[in-house]
Amino acid sequence: PQQTNGDSGVPRLVVVSNRVAIPDPTGKGSAGGLAVALKEAFEAHRGLWFGWSGKVAAQPSTTPRIVDKGNVQYALMDLTPLDRQEYYNGFANRALWPIMHYRIGLSEFSRADYAGYLRVNRSFASALAGMIQPDDLIWVHDYHLIPLAAELRALGVTNRIGYFHHIPWPAPEVLGTLPGSQDLLRDITEYNLVGVQTDLDADNLRRGLVQEVGAIQRKGDLVELGEKQIRVKGFPIGIDVNSFQQAAKRSSTNRLVRQTVAGLGSRRLIIGIDRLDYSKGIPERMESFERFLIGNPDQRGQVTYLQVTPVSRSEVPEYATLSRVVNETLGRINGSLGEPGWVPIHYVNSTYPRPVLAGLNRLARVGLVTPMRDGMNLVAKEYVAAQDPEDPGMLVLSKFAGAAQQMTDALIVNPNDKIEVAEAIRDALYMGREERVARWERMMATITQCDIASWTASFLKDLSGGRSPGAGRILR
Ligand code: F6P
Repeated sequence: PQQTNGDSGVPRLVVVSNRVAIPDPTGKGSAGGLAVALKEAFEAHRGLWFGWSGKVAAQPSTTPRIVDKGNVQYALMDLTPLDRQEYYNGFANRALWPIMHYRIGLSEFSRADYAGYLRVNRSFASALAGMIQPDDLIWVHDYHLIPLAAELRALGVTNRIGYFHHIPWPAPEVLGTLPGSQDLLRDITEYNLVGVQTDLDADNLRRGLVQEVGAIQRKGDLVELGEKQIRVKGFPIGIDVNSFQQAAKRSSTNRLVRQTVAGLGSRRLIIGIDRLDYSKGIPERMESFERFLIGNPDQRGQVTYLQVTPVSRSEVPEYATLSRVVNETLGRINGSLGEPGWVPIHYVNSTYPRPVLAGLNRLARVGLVTPMRDGMNLVAKEYVAAQDPEDPGMLVLSKFAGAAQQMTDALIVNPNDKIEVAEAIRDALYMGREERVARWERMMATITQCDIASWTASFLKDLSGGRSPGAGRILR
């Protein structure tokens, strides 16, 4: 049965994203970032979460499969193998993703993939349009679905629609190299509110709208194209600081965490946690660690670097190449610097539940978050939240992660400079307790102030026209 807004006065929240995370009844699964982010919002709103089921079927869905859980209804669409290839692996992850991460040379555009991307957006819109009620707030997530609002508008949907872009938005000179990018910018103007991670991203997008499609920049965040008014604004995403901190505290009893403690002995732990993605700078980071060991021979046998890296998008050729490069880099470094009783880099491809990751973070004296480019990077915030306040570890953070705009007390590095990263690893390991505590307290204050609850609340407030959506009925 379809949910109605009822008489509560709180509009229903309709979330659309490529992946839909149905809560795991055991609570043991590893909830993705967006699921954690939306948990808060769905607690306040009755909701509908629409998107890809993650399944591939011979026939595409024309109507979604509905799963009801608590006050949220999940509406799941299957994709055909061709859809998955062209929309997800192809245009979204082979053309758009590298461009959005400033990697023009890695972007592979194909007209067939772009047509597949538009086809899936159109079919999602036509399945969703009939489920939309007049007062619904619609919140679309991520680069897979940029044209969705335009498709919904074409079907007569007039609700307020917001879009949040979880990854970087590059300068127009970079985006402009992608065929079809002007159409994507025109599609963006069908949203009422567009959220990006940082002020730089917002600036890039507004500049792109002005330079590439002739929009006019009005005061502040406002951009106009003909009759349309679009707000483009930075909403830095956060984490549930308290729950991650609690999970980290409780983790000392976890079997995997205990095994890690036993395996470490007196060695200090350096940790990296990233999906296997070239934007994360994993081989570059391993080579920085190699530099650190070469420059600080007394540290050999004294530290272990654990890189936890679930495999990702392995059907995309550039990801398969990365996997080979990481394996070769790892093998070379462990082979040349390891000793019979010591392996410098431990590399695991497992996906661990959040409490285990929280526990591993807490054990680590240094957190290495050195992406070549990243929208925000919540791993950086999780590392800080997981620390023991009495004796916190130190974060080494790439200047190209959105998080670096907020966490200025981390050791900020340029990941392209391996010597600089190696020196930061050394500085983090040798930093006195007093300085670590002072820096940690300031970073903790920042991430607590900009946590996940404030992110969802501020986006939804702006989307609903400036009033808190929980506080009364929204007037469109
Ligand atoms: O942050 C960008 C993002 O695409 C998320 O939407 C997604 O959950 C994550 O990266 C992992 O990517 P994928 O869904 O392709 O596995």
